[in-house]
Amino acid sequence: TIPLIIDTDPGVDDALALAVAVASPEVDLLGVTTVFGNVALDKTSRNALRLMTLLGRDDVPVALGAERPLVHPQPHVSRAHGTDGLSGFADTLPEPTAEPDPRDAVTLLKDLLEASEQPVTIVPIGPLTNIALLLAAHPRLKDRIARLVVMGGGIRGGNITAAAEFNLWCDPEAARRVLVEERVPTTLVTMDLTKRCAVSAEWLQQVGESSEIGARLVGLTPDYLATYRRFLGWDGMAVHDAVAVAAAVNPGLLTTQRFPVEVECAFGPARGALLVDERLETPKEDGIDIAADADLNALREFLFERLTAFGVK
Ligand code: BDR
Ligand code: CA
Repeated sequence: TIPLIIDTDPGVDDALALAVAVASPEVDLLGVTTVFGNVALDKTSRNALRLMTLLGRDDVPVALGAERPLVHPQPHVSRAHGTDGLSGFADTLPEPTAEPDPRDAVTLLKDLLEASEQPVTIVPIGPLTNIALLLAAHPRLKDRIARLVVMGGGIRGGNITAAAEFNLWCDPEAARRVLVEERVPTTLVTMDLTKRCAVSAEWLQQVGESSEIGARLVGLTPDYLATYRRFLGWDGMAVHDAVAVAAAVNPGLLTTQRFPVEVECAFGPARGALLVDERLETPKEDGIDIAADADLNALREFLFERLTAFGVK
């Protein structure tokens, strides 16, 4: 089994990502940590607790993390995920049947890393603040991390500004610390790949018809879908964070290329941008593994199989 922790800011696609992890028999989901991001921390945390209740896993500890970026606080901008973080549908989820873990996110991460026999895979699918704090506070625990599988960054441009992808833009200093400075084995699943792996409205409908849980999850998506329709003319949507979980569970689903990266931290139009250093002479061993390509149908099939597994007894 793969001991796994998800660091998240739910988020419609975060909801699907949590579901994929819960539905994966290969995964031992040790914990969930929350961070500000799509909405403020109180809402992302409540959403995480409700989702774990929906998924029948209120036994998994959920610990609250950072409510602001490391260095430069900035206003919350939530667009695609609405004011409740789940596109206006958070109230369709059950009330949480568990309390948040009494520990803060960094302490829970530390305790879980120390207690696990095997090194742990961490899947950060929100701003990287909690992970930067963990690595800064407990550098010796790096050895206990098998890999970070991060959803973030855009090589060909962003989604929150022209240059920056949302998760990196929310806390560029944290992203820089994690992706550039710390040298932890990392796979970066960028929005370039997650957009290519978009799922269709029909695909979602089938997930919705597969079980009660599937129906509730897909019930979170109509506004998110509508945004994609309105701005891109798609009859479908990206499920960014779920792709990162898929890559953590089954790394063979995608191919990666190792390059050093930079994260722009200066104020200006490129703040939060990901820079991939593809120069021939740059030592590749200093880099991180950037998702380059995937068999998109196999990836979608994997996600479909997991998200419809709740109907199978
Ligand atoms: C990322 O931003 C968030 O809105 C999504 O949940 C995802 O983690 C995509 O850029
Ligand atoms: Ca997210």
